[in-house]
Amino acid sequence: MLAVSLDGRLAPPAGGAAQIGGRGDRRVLEEALAWADGCLIGAATLRLHGTTCLIHASDLLEQRAREARAAQPTAVVVSRSGQLDPQLRFFQQPLQRWCLAPGLAEPPPGFDAALPLPNWPAGLEALAASGLQKLVLLGGAELAGALLAAELVDQLQLTLCPVLLGGAHTWLPPVVALEPQQWRLLEQRSLEGDELMLRYGRIRA
Ligand SMILES: NC(=O)c1ccc[n+]([C@@H]2O[C@H](COP(=O)([O-])OP(=O)(O)OC[C@H]3O[C@@H](n4cnc5c(N)ncnc54)[C@H](OP(=O)(O)O)[C@@H]3O)[C@@H](O)[C@H]2O)c1
Repeated sequence: MLAVSLDGRLAPPAGGAAQIGGRGDRRVLEEALAWADGCLIGAATLRLHGTTCLIHASDLLEQRAREARAAQPTAVVVSRSGQLDPQLRFFQQPLQRWCLAPGLAEPPPGFDAALPLPNWPAGLEALAASGLQKLVLLGGAELAGALLAAELVDQLQLTLCPVLLGGAHTWLPPVVALEPQQWRLLEQRSLEGDELMLRYGRIRA
């Protein structure tokens, strides 16, 4: 799930820690987190933002408590290098931290667990076998592109935000070439601040 500008950017031309979505997007983001066992986060996004998104809404926290689930989904950081600064505020956030990386034998400092990523199907199977079956992909673009190219994304949830940004940071990187994929609209919701949430499901042959 991503917050995108009307021209399909997920960050302004200068890049950096992008905050495209407003309050409406925040609610649908927290609803997705409340559904999830785990969230996939690209290492570059985490380095830039320093933290990951938490559920704050009391009704959603109560819902997870009723379901006897952890308050927050597990944060799964995807990295090739495995290099994350242990000083990031992420390492103080109240959640489980896992790292998904090729060839990691031990969790990097600050992580509770490390899982191998020989390829995407095997990586997602390892997560499911460890209890993380319902996954939300929080971006950024490189990670979203990798999972879409591997044809492993079942739903796309985009919050269209009423801003034009221009620049190079399209939500799907231009280097990602896909076989045409067809999607069906599952939900559309008008959100606060003239934002529009669109949720699509993958049509598979
Ligand atoms: N608008 C939104 O909703 C939204 C959401 C998220 C992020 N963003 C923005 O997106 C930008 C960052 O996105 P990005 O595309 O530059 O980076 P990204 O996708 O967040 O992270 C890229 C990093 O993730 C790891 N990675 C990605 N694909 C991998 C793979 N297939 N296997 C192993 N590791 C992999 C690598 O980590 P290592 O470097 O550790 O090897 C890579 O350098 C920021 O501007 C952020 O604010 C916007």
